[in-house]
Amino acid sequence: MSSSPSKKIRIGICGLGTVGGGTLAILQNNADELSRRLGGELEVTRVASRSLQKGQAEGVAKTGTDPFAVVNDPDIDIVVETMGGFKPAFEVVKQALSSGKHVVTANKALIAERGNELFAVAAQHGVNLNYESSVAGGIPIIKSLREGLAANRIEWLAGIINGTGNFILTEMAARRCQFEEVLKQAQALGYAEADPTFDVEGIDAAHKLTIMASIAFGIPLQFEKTYTEGISRVTPDDISYAKELGYRIKHLGIARRTERGIEMRVHPTLISRKRLLANVNGVGNAIMVHGDAVGSTLYNGPGAGAAATGSAVVADIMDIARALIAGVDHPVMPALGYQSLNSELPVLSIDDIESEYYLRIPVLDRVGVMARISNVLQEHDINIDAVIQKEAVSASVPIVILTHIAVERQLNKALHAIEALADVSGPINRIRVEPLLGEVRN
Ligand code: HSE
Repeated sequence: MSSSPSKKIRIGICGLGTVGGGTLAILQNNADELSRRLGGELEVTRVASRSLQKGQAEGVAKTGTDPFAVVNDPDIDIVVETMGGFKPAFEVVKQALSSGKHVVTANKALIAERGNELFAVAAQHGVNLNYESSVAGGIPIIKSLREGLAANRIEWLAGIINGTGNFILTEMAARRCQFEEVLKQAQALGYAEADPTFDVEGIDAAHKLTIMASIAFGIPLQFEKTYTEGISRVTPDDISYAKELGYRIKHLGIARRTERGIEMRVHPTLISRKRLLANVNGVGNAIMVHGDAVGSTLYNGPGAGAAATGSAVVADIMDIARALIAGVDHPVMPALGYQSLNSELPVLSIDDIESEYYLRIPVLDRVGVMARISNVLQEHDINIDAVIQKEAVSASVPIVILTHIAVERQLNKALHAIEALADVSGPINRIRVEPLLGEVRN
């Protein structure tokens, strides 16, 4: 076993975009601090970047454009994959693991959709595949779920896990500005994905939720079963009505263990403005996790950006480097934190979840319309909690209703019947309301 302070761990980075660039900058700028923590040295010896000049400008010894040159370099101990996407990232990671190299990736799509295969390859070859930065940028949520909360049976988690979406909703609420305008700003700030529909349609958040749910409940990664709904249908009017009722609208990822199975869902959600999560603004991310022993815990911080995400990548590198320096050859932890996963636990369809609901129903301003809508809800056993009806300024006027808890399948039947009423002049906007999210602020 070697613990020589001069031990050098050699790192190769594939991809020098926002995350890879942030990672390299931290490794260079904080080199002394990292060495003192490790009792060894981290050296980036090779990088692959689409832009050759980037690597050269950073003074890395070997630079090129081919990520497989990094993977095949026999001197490299840890391969960092910060290219994103599947091609060639999947092959790069698989080949690195198969050749006995440890891998750190920031690639949430890759982990959420192909992680089951890649974790198996890592286990087979006795190496680590670390992915802290794939969820919630700089917040160490993977470590918290997998290690810090390992004593607990996790009951639920809920989080704001897409910085771009949160930035857009925050700006729309503060300035009543248009969705497209704020999206452009988020892109300019480097928060948004290359394809911003991943952010606004909830795919990015669904990747992250899938990963967290697997660690929380010890289930295989099942991205295809995560219900995904984006924020593009939330309007400034919805934000105003929600505010009038004491709520804010956040784009949440929610995973819950119920007696019937696991809920995994990403959608806009009304939460009381007194809740902690309602007060997380801008590009910030925050995740509440409820464990049976610890109760509710909250993790808050920057969810995107070069330095924040690079911070999580470097933490993963440090974990592997510590083990290498200590002479520990094998991963100390299975990738999801469980030696045996529960593949039998069903993931519930969105139709089977229970929630409260906000409904914005455009109606014609006619006598008795409110009573007719109430009747349909009553026939479907759906209880009304609050109602707002505005004065008519045109032929169509919105009725806004908050319901008590209902099963989604039953609610859908009621909405279908309401939309069929002659008084209803357009589609109903339905947003789920989540009452169970942590402590009320004083
Ligand atoms: N586009 C992502 C976000 C970046 O906005 O949260 C971090 O995953």
